[in-house]
Amino acid sequence: MKNNKQIILGIESSCDETSVGIVADGHELLANVITSQINSHRRFGGVVPEVASRHHVEYIDYCIEQAMKNADLKFSDLDGIAATYGPGLAGCLMVGLTAGKMLAARLDLPFYGVNHMAGHIYSAAINHEIKFPALALLVSGGHTEFVYLKDELSFEILGTTLDDAVGEAYDKIGRLIGFNYPAGKTIDQAAQKGELTYDLPRPMLYTHDLNFSFSGIKTAVRELVEKEKRQDTLNVNNLAASFQNAVVDVLTAKTKKALEQVDVQELIIGGGVAANSLLKSRMTELISNDFPDCQLTIPPARLCGDNGAMVAAFGSVLAKHQEVSDLTLDSNPSLSFRTA
Ligand code: KG4
Ligand code: ZN
Repeated sequence: MKNNKQIILGIESSCDETSVGIVADGHELLANVITSQINSHRRFGGVVPEVASRHHVEYIDYCIEQAMKNADLKFSDLDGIAATYGPGLAGCLMVGLTAGKMLAARLDLPFYGVNHMAGHIYSAAINHEIKFPALALLVSGGHTEFVYLKDELSFEILGTTLDDAVGEAYDKIGRLIGFNYPAGKTIDQAAQKGELTYDLPRPMLYTHDLNFSFSGIKTAVRELVEKEKRQDTLNVNNLAASFQNAVVDVLTAKTKKALEQVDVQELIIGGGVAANSLLKSRMTELISNDFPDCQLTIPPARLCGDNGAMVAAFGSVLAKHQEVSDLTLDSNPSLSFRTA
């Protein structure tokens, strides 16, 4: 039911999840339908863009209808439509963006083009009021970056990965040890059963900048796995634990450095890897020991991965500031906060 709230429908199709979420007044989650295509990509060990686009075409209408049904709304109850226009896979972005623009045109509603990474940050706004200035650590399959938000609509990148994204490192290592794609959650679960028996590098741990590099850990793991397999001594759980510990050591140390450099009221961790159990416990420890005045917000796991609700949440912020997009808006596969 509408009840005079501002209701935004958000569409996400940048990679391998077709999802539609509906958010009221920027914070209240009314629906979040997520259809994953993972089974279609699994045998290829990664996302196949053409297969992904076709899935989006097949599922987008279903997701919109189901989200409206779950939220118990009529189309006339909506106040705006938001859709991701980048970054992501070109053909995939096109499907959700076109659906969003068409829906907005058909219903004569304002349309809001959403930066996927801003969506990951604003997943923290669901059931929560973000305090500014804020710092976001974005950790996903395609990105690892620190973003400083002076206020709601200002995004400044303070550091980024120089090579692989952290989720990408998880997925590549998963492949080496025979885990299905995407491997983040499986490695996280295996790590909880393992011990820290393998010594791995922690790249850029002691550099003063806020950049990351994960390809060194990946290469070290590859060499280790090859050696251990030759000797038939590979302990997968211990490897997962040692790898996860190295990655989280770097993420935590860099976050400490970032929080020493910028004065913020809130730290948001967003993106698929934000669902990681060790990352959550180590960040909680860091904040309570060293930055007790800073609030830590990590969205629940279902909102960490790609979803339409985060798009609706950021769409609500754009609506509040009347940042309406033109219906000629094109997708931008390499959209960044630097180029937006
Ligand atoms: O944000 P997301 O859903 O998609 C992108 O925008 O990339 O992130 C997906 C990534 C994958 O690399 C996946 O392996 C990783 O998030 N991931 C995790 C966990 N759950 C998902 N990585 C570590 N621990 C997890 N629990
Ligand atoms: Zn994402």
